[in-house]
Amino acid sequence: MTTLLKAHELRHSFGATPALDGVSLEVRRHEILAVVGESGSGKTTLLNVLAGRMNADQGTVHYHDGANLRSLSELGERELHRLQRARWGFVEQNPRAALRLNITAGGNIGERLMAAGDRHYGNIRAIATHWLEQVEIDPKRLDDLPMNFSGGMLQRLQIARMLVTEPELVFMDEPTGGLDASVQARVLDLIRSLVRRLGLAVVLVTHDIGVARLLADRLIVMRQGLIVESGLTDQVLDDPHHAYTQLLVSSVLPA
Ligand SMILES: Nc1ncnc2c1ncn2[C@@H]1O[C@H](COP(=O)(O)OP(=O)(O)O)[C@@H](O)[C@H]1O
Ligand SMILES: [Mg+2]
Repeated sequence: MTTLLKAHELRHSFGATPALDGVSLEVRRHEILAVVGESGSGKTTLLNVLAGRMNADQGTVHYHDGANLRSLSELGERELHRLQRARWGFVEQNPRAALRLNITAGGNIGERLMAAGDRHYGNIRAIATHWLEQVEIDPKRLDDLPMNFSGGMLQRLQIARMLVTEPELVFMDEPTGGLDASVQARVLDLIRSLVRRLGLAVVLVTHDIGVARLLADRLIVMRQGLIVESGLTDQVLDDPHHAYTQLLVSSVLPA
């Protein structure tokens, strides 16, 4: 199976605080990898480094450029942005951080298409409509401003905006973390069906074991910047070997 992303011995500190303490992992095509662990364990730092949003102090990240594995650090800024805008996607916990609330829903989707170099301006409305439907937003809302959307709709719009370039690898940081419990279930179901249907590879950060169980093929458990356990989701969660994973699974640790 093709390796899309490969991290080797990532280390990073904020001042005296080690956030990553030697993390290595691989992400394969079409797989959903969850990164779980309590707050402060280094999940977001890891995701930002993997997604090329932040440089680690040490270690390497290689990505698959279609033919070979190449180091992210070899990329110029323009090439990195091109990768991030088209072949990769990122879903923020807070959709307000990713969307522009003062331009229309269709405009938010079209903007990413254009940023990725799509020149078929005439098609953009049709494409935006298609992706609104894919995330179960009424296409009549195409010309509405997202500032009037509910939290769940905003998150679905962020997902539509990200999917419009048909990325192969998507990074998600607590994608349902800011939503009410009743809304979470719907967004999780949507993510689950979309990633399977589109054959996406996903790196999903969550402190919620239930989210990992629902979505992930494989998971890694982080504690204090280290991977303490990893494996197939069902195996790890049904038979956790590390004491910390056992605590996580029994929900004793604070989120
Ligand atoms: N921008 C930052 N400045 C200082 N410390 C940070 C910063 N981001 C993260 N940290 C620290 O790094 C550690 C890991 O944080 P983070 O990656 O956000 O963990 P998680 O996403 O698992 O909650 C924590 O101790 C956190 O306080
Ligand atoms: Mg975090």
